[in-house]
Amino acid sequence: MSSKTVSDAPTAPVIFITGATSGFGAATARKFARNGWKVIATGRRSGRLKKLAAEFGSDVVLPLTMDLTDESSIRQAIAAIPAEFSPVTCLFNNGGLALGSSPMPDVDPADWRIMVETNIMGLVTTTLGLLDSLKAAGAGASIINVGSAAGIYAYPGGNVYGASKAFVHHFSTELRCDLAGSDIRVTSFIPGMAKTEFTTVRTHGDAAANEAFYQGVKPILPEDVADIIWFVANIPPHLNINVLELMPIIQVPTIPTILRDKPQT
Ligand SMILES: NC(=O)c1ccc[n+]([C@@H]2O[C@H](COP(=O)([O-])OP(=O)(O)OC[C@H]3O[C@@H](n4cnc5c(N)ncnc54)[C@H](OP(=O)(O)O)[C@@H]3O)[C@@H](O)[C@H]2O)c1
Repeated sequence: MSSKTVSDAPTAPVIFITGATSGFGAATARKFARNGWKVIATGRRSGRLKKLAAEFGSDVVLPLTMDLTDESSIRQAIAAIPAEFSPVTCLFNNGGLALGSSPMPDVDPADWRIMVETNIMGLVTTTLGLLDSLKAAGAGASIINVGSAAGIYAYPGGNVYGASKAFVHHFSTELRCDLAGSDIRVTSFIPGMAKTEFTTVRTHGDAAANEAFYQGVKPILPEDVADIIWFVANIPPHLNINVLELMPIIQVPTIPTILRDKPQT
């Protein structure tokens, strides 16, 4: 690529990652920390965040315990960012979860509430809290929101999880409109089937269901996502990847299901 990227800046750019304790977020934190960026690593499991900081040093990785379901926790974490980790060049809005995979009505509304609070309210609150910092970063700043193929392609049992990720996609396009004229790029990143702790969390710790889900397939791996996030954050500042949908080759978006032999009215 011809133009300079944010990685060419004289001072280290900063990435703020939600959900840095596992999966996509942890792999992305390591990728950026290894390649000259400073990383603000957030999540609830502070032990894992501290381990990450110990791997790279506290001048490279700043661990900040933060619960996406708790607005004051988000505010406190953002307020605790020191000058050495400011301004934030890239916000990787990645933290999130699915809980349950049964079709309605066999669902737990408590799970629904957690997904809405985490995937929707946590993401928008973090975004709003970091906007001034991203604006201060200037050319090359970016917000990368993690949606899901579940937010585009409906399936039985996707219900509120899929809908929360559809929100993330649409919010990303709305944000892009609101930020028009600023330097901040916005990307809706839409991954398909990936192997992380996601399915263990979704099944409330059912290890057998987790193994069965990934049997016989090669899904997206966290390191694949880290490489893609690196690319998205580092394209020249005059470019914006609006939407990036990623699937493993074995996952095929196909035609809508036809229910044959169903009594017709
Ligand atoms: N894996 C897939 O197949 C897949 C596919 C499409 C989209 N996604 C999306 O990708 C994103 C990353 O998931 P992953 O696959 O990497 O799963 P993962 O390994 O389970 O990681 C999820 C991360 O989200 C964080 N998180 C969950 N609830 C949180 C809360 N209340 N406050 C703060 N952080 C919270 C977790 O941190 P703590 O538990 O430490 O708080 C963890 O770091 C999610 O948004 C997920 O919906 C995943």
